[in-house]
Amino acid sequence: MLLVLFGPPGAGKGTQAAFLCEELGVPQVATGDIFRKHLKEGTALGQLARSFIEKGQLVPDEVVWDLVENRLSEEDCAGGVLLDGFPRSVRQAELLVSWSKRVERKLDSVVALEVADAHLLPRLTGRRTCLNCGGTYHVEYNPTAEDGVCDRCGGEVVQRSDDTAETVQKRLSTYHDQTAPVLDYFDDLGLVTRIDGVGKIREITERLRLAIA
Ligand code: AP5
Ligand code: MG
Ligand code: ZN
Repeated sequence: MLLVLFGPPGAGKGTQAAFLCEELGVPQVATGDIFRKHLKEGTALGQLARSFIEKGQLVPDEVVWDLVENRLSEEDCAGGVLLDGFPRSVRQAELLVSWSKRVERKLDSVVALEVADAHLLPRLTGRRTCLNCGGTYHVEYNPTAEDGVCDRCGGEVVQRSDDTAETVQKRLSTYHDQTAPVLDYFDDLGLVTRIDGVGKIREITERLRLAIA
């Protein structure tokens, strides 16, 4: 199973991936999470990614693809994978499709969470993320039981540095300019299922379950 969970920043990709991966028994490959891990560890890749992430821009395609291709060839991805936050340029989508043909791993489906910009800004500025496990919360819509402490692992829960109102606006415009066209590309291949991403988190999980069943 090779599944792409697609959507604008704040659509709920990370939130829903956590449920879906558990159910499908496949790992989540989230490029944003991988970059943040490198940032935390202070690697060269982390340094490079930081300069783009903090401006709300995309990390260059070749850098991203190198990372994803390596990750997809790891053993735990052999039985399937859910991609979150990749591909987000037409070039990345082309690289994924040609890889899937080359290694004979079928790209099953692209599930797109549709959420209008007006919902995205408050979702992102109110988001809180666990430094330890990447768990995602929201001060209003999905709070932790204890302030600043992750429900899942007890780690410290903080605001992401790119979740300020100013950077969120830049991320949204990057999405509309460079990432939204990816959906047209996959539409032409007949791979896209669109899901309404507005509603209760649990309801959206149900919609996704039905879509990938
Ligand atoms: P990345 O980490 O992928 O960020 P993103 O795509 O901007 O998406 P988010 O993680 O912000 O949103 P999400 O859809 O996961 O929403 P979430 O579930 O958290 O990328 C960060 C940066 O890395 C990029 O800007 C770029 O620079 C770089 N990068 C990453 N991948 C790249 C690539 N392939 N190419 C180039 N550069 C790349 O939910 C958001 C909030 O809403 C949470 O607080 C959540 O609790 C809440 N929420 C979720 N669902 C609901 C609901 N139904 N109702 C109300 N609130 C909800
Ligand atoms: Mg995410
Ligand atoms: Zn945690």
